Amino acid sequence: MSSGPLSPRRHAVSRFRRWPPLFFYAEGKTALDPAYPAVVAALKDSPLPLLDLGCGMGLLAAYLRAHGYEAPILGVDADEKKIGIARQALADTNVRFRAGDAREFPEQSGHVVMLDVLHYFDDAAQGALLRRIAASVAPGGLALVRVTLQEPTWRFALTRAEEWLIHQVRWIPWMGSNFPTRDEVSAPFREAGFAVDVQPMWGRTPFNGYFFSFRRPEVIL
Ligand SMILES: C[S@@+](CC[C@H](N)C(=O)[O-])C[C@H]1O[C@@H](n2cnc3c(N)ncnc32)[C@H](O)[C@@H]1O
Repeated sequence: MSSGPLSPRRHAVSRFRRWPPLFFYAEGKTALDPAYPAVVAALKDSPLPLLDLGCGMGLLAAYLRAHGYEAPILGVDADEKKIGIARQALADTNVRFRAGDAREFPEQSGHVVMLDVLHYFDDAAQGALLRRIAASVAPGGLALVRVTLQEPTWRFALTRAEEWLIHQVRWIPWMGSNFPTRDEVSAPFREAGFAVDVQPMWGRTPFNGYFFSFRRPEVIL
C-alpha cells in the first residue's frame, strides 16, 4: 500500500535519512520546535535572498525549500562537519553553504535569519554582529533572530543545562553561555529604525527561546 506523497516537513527531514542520528534529530526538531514554521510564515512568498547564520546541517534551508521558499539561500556555520553534511543533504538544490564564522558573512541585501546562535559570542561581538545583520537587511526585509533570554525562570535554567550537555557530547564544539537581555538584542535594530516584534517561541520544548522579528521599513521616495 502506498503511503502517498511526503508532507513538506517529512520531505525536508527525509534529506537526512542516510545519517540516522541526524534523521531522528531532524524529525524531533521539526515536530516540536515552532521556530521553523514561524520562519516559513514570515518569508514564504518573498523573492528576497536569505542568509542563514549558524545554519548547522542545513535543516532550515531544507524546510524552507520544501515549503516553497524559492529565493537564494546562503547558510554559514563555523562547524565544517555540519557544512559538509548540509552540502550533501541539499546537493540537488541551489542552496549554498559556507564554512566560517557568522561574523564574517559576505555582503548581503535581503533577509537574515539566526536561530540559537547569539549566545556563542561575547557582549561586544553580539552588538557588532547584530549591527552588521541590521545593515544587511533590504528595505522591506526581515531579520529573524531566536535567542534564549537571560531571565529568572526554570526555562532559562534548563536551557543552560541543555547547552552544557550538547557541548559535553560534542554536538556543538563550542560552549555558548552569554545569554543576552531583550534590550540588548533589540537596541541595534531600534536604532536603525526597524519595526520590532518579540514573541516567546518555545512551543513543545522546555527552553526559554524568544523570536525577534525585525522589519526594515520600505524606502518611500
Ligand atoms: C543550536 S545550533 C542552531 C542551528 C540552526 N540555527 C538551527 O536552528 O537549526 C547553533 C549553531 O551555531 C553554530 N555556531 C556556533 N558558533 C558559531 C560561529 N562563531 N559562527 C558560525 N556558527 C557558529 C554551531 O556550529 C551550530 O551549528
